[in-house]
Amino acid sequence: MTVIENSKLTVVGAGSVGASTAYAALIRGSARHVALYDIATAKVEAEVLDLAHGTQFTGSSDIVGGSDISVVEGSHVVVITAGAKQNPGQTRIELAGVNAGILKTMMPQLLEVAPNAIYVIVTNPCDVLTVLAQEQTGLPPERIFASGTVLDTSRLRWRLAERAGVSRASVHAYIVGEHGDTEFPLWSTATVGTVPILEWESEGHPRMTVDELDAIAVDVRDAAYKVIQGKGATNYAIGLSSARIVEAILHDEHAVMPVSTVLHDYHGIDGVALSVPSVVNAAGAHPIPQTPYSPSELGLMRRSADALREVAASLR
Ligand code: LAC
Repeated sequence: MTVIENSKLTVVGAGSVGASTAYAALIRGSARHVALYDIATAKVEAEVLDLAHGTQFTGSSDIVGGSDISVVEGSHVVVITAGAKQNPGQTRIELAGVNAGILKTMMPQLLEVAPNAIYVIVTNPCDVLTVLAQEQTGLPPERIFASGTVLDTSRLRWRLAERAGVSRASVHAYIVGEHGDTEFPLWSTATVGTVPILEWESEGHPRMTVDELDAIAVDVRDAAYKVIQGKGATNYAIGLSSARIVEAILHDEHAVMPVSTVLHDYHGIDGVALSVPSVVNAAGAHPIPQTPYSPSELGLMRRSADALREVAASLR
């Protein structure tokens, strides 16, 4: 696949997550053309104006948008952020009913104007919505997937980098499973550089203990609740995470990222969308079958799968 020239990203939903995703994509130059689509005319037009007013200070990407579905035409990637957001203390799963309905209505309209796009679902609960949208549209799993635990993995790497005294880019650790309360870290393969995480130490940064790592993992799992409690929503980090996924697609990077696709015969898991390390390129997302899991990690993955399978079944 060649790098997509004259690339177009459409972000669906002009709420705080959608606007932040468009903003991040403009600043990072994730796509040549960025479009923002929402049915709320005044809101989306104001967000587009506000974003456009700053484009003298960004790269060559341009921003357009509006409430007519034609805005989405010709998109190479469509990031879906539309839907209800978590209220303080609310779980992502509690949004399933209302957001599944919104997506069910929206998908046929989007496919009509962007039949060849790759779809990235950010709306929560993103894993459950991905299974339902994949079934509804019949798109191949690699072309409709969720941002999943890319954000959670960034949260984890930020914490571990601070604790280890190294660059975030030198922390190789993943959060996998549900983007939600059953997510978990892959400690068995986590390293700082080439050093297994529990063996890392440097001046002023003593070895980490298992209890410390587990406490960090709990903080990461519950991070969104803390941010939502304080400011009402999360938006910057998910916007950046989504823009980064878009780049891996449009630049055909073959980047390994923990996105969430509908898994088939993946370590015995079938028919549920979960985040696992996957290769992301111009053709979409491809789970890596060779990823090693410890027996306890496989057990946690199956727990995540069972929890989500139940929710999806209740919405069919
Ligand atoms: C969060 C939202 C995007 O984790 O689910 O911030």
